[in-house]
Amino acid sequence: MKKVYIETYGCQMNEHDSERMLSILSGGGYVQTDNPRDAEVVIVNTCSVRAKAEQKAYSSVGRYAQLKKRRSETAQNRVIVFSGCVAQQEGRKLVGRFKGVDVVVGPSQVHRIDELIRQAKTTGPVVAVAPDTDQNRFRNPVKDMNGVKAYVTIMEGCDNFCSYCTVPYLRGREVSRNVRSIIDEVYTLVASGVKEVVLLGQNVNSYRDNAGEKQVTLYELLSMLNDIKGLERIRFITSHPKDLTDKLMHAFTDFDKVCPHIHLPIQSGSDRILKLMARGYTVEEYMDKINRIRTLKPDVAVTSDFIAGFPSETDQDHHDTIMFVRRANYDNIFSFKYSDRPLARANKYGDKVPEHTIAGRLKELQDAQLEITRKIYRALAGTVQRVLVEGDSKKQGRQQGRTMHGRLVNFSGTVPEGTVADVLIDDYSDNALYGKHIPEEE
Ligand code: 5AD
Ligand code: SF4
Repeated sequence: MKKVYIETYGCQMNEHDSERMLSILSGGGYVQTDNPRDAEVVIVNTCSVRAKAEQKAYSSVGRYAQLKKRRSETAQNRVIVFSGCVAQQEGRKLVGRFKGVDVVVGPSQVHRIDELIRQAKTTGPVVAVAPDTDQNRFRNPVKDMNGVKAYVTIMEGCDNFCSYCTVPYLRGREVSRNVRSIIDEVYTLVASGVKEVVLLGQNVNSYRDNAGEKQVTLYELLSMLNDIKGLERIRFITSHPKDLTDKLMHAFTDFDKVCPHIHLPIQSGSDRILKLMARGYTVEEYMDKINRIRTLKPDVAVTSDFIAGFPSETDQDHHDTIMFVRRANYDNIFSFKYSDRPLARANKYGDKVPEHTIAGRLKELQDAQLEITRKIYRALAGTVQRVLVEGDSKKQGRQQGRTMHGRLVNFSGTVPEGTVADVLIDDYSDNALYGKHIPEEE
């Protein structure tokens, strides 16, 4: 049996690219291993959103390239693949920098992984980083999914060019996937036992399929997916506040399978910083959108992303951000230290914030959110939640799943994976709820 080892950094899109590469390779007889020394193919799927992730990618690839120098047959024939956004960013240079790298493949070409590996074995190092805007880039020969939840790409790339972000340069312009191909994939997933799909794209609100008589936007796509028998839950990430329409907001009430959770990154609570970031909305416009969603669906869970220490961010800007976190009443946030990226425009902005100030601001942001998360979780104690069971939790004897709102629940019970169970919540931590399964009455 040929073996493949894969290591993934970064966002869900990258996680999913790794899954797709594994699906494609499993069609060619590869099985996955968690030991790189056993593997004929070693893939490092990299992220370039922040400098730290990029450094990790280099040290990993360096380590695997070293492994190749060993004398065993597997070591000599091993194919090392450098994929993802750092591969796209650096391209051919990587072949010179890391002796032993055989394939350099950018995000829009990962669907060719099988062919690129074959080619590298005969011709030596191959580099595939030309942007691919063809529908083929969405290729995903779904194999037996052994999970309850699956990612489905609906669009890729981004046209927004937020000033801090490398994504538009590396994942390219927005390309939407054909509706037919998305629906076919979801049918296949559901037939293999999947109950929840997470629709993926850098900016899912700008999803468009213009091929048919009527344009299909995310709203219509959700409507079609909602009709698929056997599918229980639908989520979508990531939404851009400026493109979030009233019509899409209605999806939360019009379609029963669409989960009442929206990830809506604001990045900063200061209008001045939002302008410098080129986000295309003000704090009040953003808040207005949250309010409108909450009017339609009062208990919707909202999550967000924040960047601490964007160039020129003052104590006042930071204070405004903290105040906004309290006001928005997020379920949870992801917060990051601003990281200078050579490709992104903000790299050239002056007045960089010192590292220790950024670290302090990040901590304050996280603490402010923690108070709110705890308050929301505390209020859930004593309630019964419908939990889609995903499997056993790390702690023995407990099972794990998520509520429609996306909240993680650990509970005692013996419920088959993939079923929706009633769980009485009796406790909470900073990132999960705890409870007991209440069996349905006979
Ligand atoms: N520095 C820090 N965080 C960043 N993000 C994107 N680019 C940068 C950067 N240069 C964050 C944003 C985005 C999330 C995926 O990563 O918050 O929403
Ligand atoms: Fe990056 Fe902005 Fe596009 Fe998100 S919307 S991927 S932050 S450029």
